[in-house]
Amino acid sequence: MKIGILSRNSKLYSTRRLIEACEQRGHQAVVIDALRCYMNINSDQPSIHSKGESLEGFDAIIPRIGASVTFYGCAVLRQFEMMGVYPVNESVAITRSRDKLRSMQLLSRRKVGMPITGFASKPDDIKDLLDMVGGAPVVIKLLEGTQGIGVVLAETRKAAESVIEAFLGLRANIMVQEFIKEADGADIRCFVIGDKVIAAMKRQGAEGEFRSNLHRGGSASLVRITPEERRTAVEAAKVMGLRVAGVDLLRSHRGPLVMEVNSSPGLEGIEAATGKDVAGMIIEYIEKNAKPQRTRTRGKG
Ligand SMILES: Nc1ncnc2c1ncn2[C@@H]1O[C@H](COP(=O)(O)OP(=O)(O)OP(=O)(O)O)[C@@H](O)[C@H]1O
Ligand SMILES: [Mg+2]
Repeated sequence: MKIGILSRNSKLYSTRRLIEACEQRGHQAVVIDALRCYMNINSDQPSIHSKGESLEGFDAIIPRIGASVTFYGCAVLRQFEMMGVYPVNESVAITRSRDKLRSMQLLSRRKVGMPITGFASKPDDIKDLLDMVGGAPVVIKLLEGTQGIGVVLAETRKAAESVIEAFLGLRANIMVQEFIKEADGADIRCFVIGDKVIAAMKRQGAEGEFRSNLHRGGSASLVRITPEERRTAVEAAKVMGLRVAGVDLLRSHRGPLVMEVNSSPGLEGIEAATGKDVAGMIIEYIEKNAKPQRTRTRGKG
């Protein structure tokens, strides 16, 4: 098969591993930088060019679209879908999962467990917003944050009010969330392919840190997950419409709670922690499922 990897940088660990896994299994891998692509949108023959050449003959595309290029990256993926190429994750599902508010609303509609979460843009009553989520301690998150930056634990009501005021003064959209103390500075990353969790790791924050992000000094290890955690992760990916996803769970007294569903989950941490050939499993999934015109939405809404 000819498999396109939509990635800005062929030297990234995940991209390199996917190329390797394609080649090991006798496929041709082509790395495509979405930002360099230009497209012809017309009613009979959509096409995509890059560096003066037409990108054709692909059997599947693996989108690895970074958060900063979601808009254009998804447009390029949508163009491939219009040409009938099989995407591992569809553009519609990626766009959906990148909108944190929308994702949480969809998960709650399907009764997937999640921390009690409040959203606000310009609340006129911060006290009431805090009451809505059960009062301090709360975790306050900047919607645009990543790698743990912009995630603050406010242990008292006073602290929560000042942090919320400060963030709102910067005109940021925020999420105010029930603090899951019993998670004890750890979260579980479940790597979902199709309808299975194929690998899982526990990320534990550094001593005294409630955030488990590896970028904040956390460490990852292999973990056995419960059947309920497995079901929750698979259901969360399904609700988002993602065939490959990284689902982050917090272990709480009332069961697993979904924090986030990631549409381009990194391979380095999970392969190192579990020793599994996750890249190979993604390619194997493509071998079983990729067929022309198999996109469910073909980029429709
Ligand atoms: N409600 C919560 N209760 C307990 N711990 C939390 C809660 N929310 C987040 N954490 C901890 O903080 C870490 C960072 O939070 P989160 O994953 O939401 O933000 P991020 O990593 O900056 O964003 P993203 O995952 O979207 O890149 C989590 O991995 C988790 O360990
Ligand atoms: Mg995170």
